[in-house]
Amino acid sequence: MIQLSEVHEAVQERYGAIAVNGTSCCGPSDCCGDASNASLFYEGELLDGLPVDVTGLSLGCGDPVTIAGLRKGERVLDLGSGGGIDCFLAARQVGAEGYVIGVDMTPAMLEKANANKARMGVDNVEFRQGQIEALPVEDNSIDVIMSNCVINLAPDKRAVFREAFRVLKPGGRVAVSDIVTEGEFSDELRADLSRWAECVTGAIDLELYTALMRAAGFSEVTVADKRTAEEIVPTQPGMPKIYSARVTAVKPG
Ligand SMILES: C[S@@+](CC[C@H](N)C(=O)[O-])C[C@H]1O[C@@H](n2cnc3c(N)ncnc32)[C@H](O)[C@@H]1O
Repeated sequence: MIQLSEVHEAVQERYGAIAVNGTSCCGPSDCCGDASNASLFYEGELLDGLPVDVTGLSLGCGDPVTIAGLRKGERVLDLGSGGGIDCFLAARQVGAEGYVIGVDMTPAMLEKANANKARMGVDNVEFRQGQIEALPVEDNSIDVIMSNCVINLAPDKRAVFREAFRVLKPGGRVAVSDIVTEGEFSDELRADLSRWAECVTGAIDLELYTALMRAAGFSEVTVADKRTAEEIVPTQPGMPKIYSARVTAVKPG
């Protein structure tokens, strides 16, 4: 039986090393690790004007910002903000009257994000250290929660969705991009913490993922789209099918 703290340690070790050394996040493939991957996931001119220090530390598996439909003045929370790419994109969209909080548990990643923030001279973004299973954020204070390739890494997904529900205002929205599966990993594969930290064996079946969101209280849980992720995460025989999916939901108002 894997301990929750063991997962957090393995994940933190991996992303701490990536923040310092700048290697890709998802194992031997090119997934999620460089500027070209940022341009793989984000369309059009969204990335224009972002420094290469930000696009080069894009570790996601999709674009949650576009499906979030952000409006001026909104308060946004990014779960597992990494180098900050989605926070900086969101900050532009919510404008000076809006505010974006990124939460990440890895100190070296927060240092990168804060260095990027200083370089860009952005005032409406704040990075906080914490676990997404116990968010350092007030109740009912957030309009929109985003997350990009992070919830699969969390050992207690039920707690993540419970916390997301707690901090959202009534009527608030969720827009996440994440690695999910069709079918489940065996207990043996789940116990492989290095694969877990590579965004693979911590992923759960999409049906269970959406069921956990509903169980936390969310309504209008919708799979916006889903595409195979087998070319971007390291797989092996005996594994379930792996997808990158984008999911939206609402906290009933
Ligand atoms: C795959 S990277 C994605 C980073 C960012 N969302 C992006 O798109 O570039 C995962 C990030 O989530 C953070 N993370 C993973 N599990 C976490 C947890 N349980 N609580 C807080 N942060 C976590 C890691 O430190 C890392 O920075």
